[in-house]
Amino acid sequence: MPFHIMKVKQQLEGMWDQQHRCPRGMVGWLVGEQMVRQHRPETTWTINLLDIRPTDTILEVGFGAGQGIKLAAVKAYDGHVMGIDLSEDMVRVAKRRNARNIRTGRVVLSQGTITALPFEGQQFDRIMTIHTLYFWPAPERAVSELYRVLKPAGRVVITLSTGKINGRGEVEVWPPFQSLLEEQVVPGMQREGFQVVRLERGPNSRQYTSVAVIGEK
Ligand SMILES: C[S@@+](CC[C@H](N)C(=O)[O-])C[C@H]1O[C@@H](n2cnc3c(N)ncnc32)[C@H](O)[C@@H]1O
Repeated sequence: MPFHIMKVKQQLEGMWDQQHRCPRGMVGWLVGEQMVRQHRPETTWTINLLDIRPTDTILEVGFGAGQGIKLAAVKAYDGHVMGIDLSEDMVRVAKRRNARNIRTGRVVLSQGTITALPFEGQQFDRIMTIHTLYFWPAPERAVSELYRVLKPAGRVVITLSTGKINGRGEVEVWPPFQSLLEEQVVPGMQREGFQVVRLERGPNSRQYTSVAVIGEK
């Protein structure tokens, strides 16, 4: 491939990664809506793993365009759903998607980061975060924050992809995310005090695998 085309390709990939880390502007909106469609299998699966009860108080960190928040509010129909996302633009988009429940006060969404959750301790029965682990600035700190805001007997589900399925149907594991999961997140959760920490394989979503870390306090 000629050098200048390779350069343009690298720049576009960098922009694409940045838009997944913190979607912004019109492109960010398009990326957010695309994620709603593309992440449907793992979002539905994660919500089932949470085993939400009608009166639960739920937190989603990194909700993107807000589809997970909407589905969680259906399950917690007599409860509350709170959300935190790094991107101001995603907060706006997700607020539109959840406008009815926001008006009645059952859903509250705001800007923030996983490493400094703006909540008192022990507020949530269930916490989920989908496709955000790749971007956590300090995994140990993030785990500690999730533990702090979770109620006793509460459950956290962290869903991500650690591999891609190639043309021959074989899984090509991404070593950086696999080791982040196995060497930092799982041991970090055990050290933090989670009683149960287990991994569960999820549905393949397009050409990506999915896996969840389930932690119980
Ligand atoms: C790849 S998107 C996934 C969005 C959504 N969970 C989904 O599956 O469609 C990652 C989201 O996490 C948010 N995010 C990235 N870093 C974050 C952080 N440190 N704290 C909270 N949210 C973060 C981004 O703004 C973005 O909306």
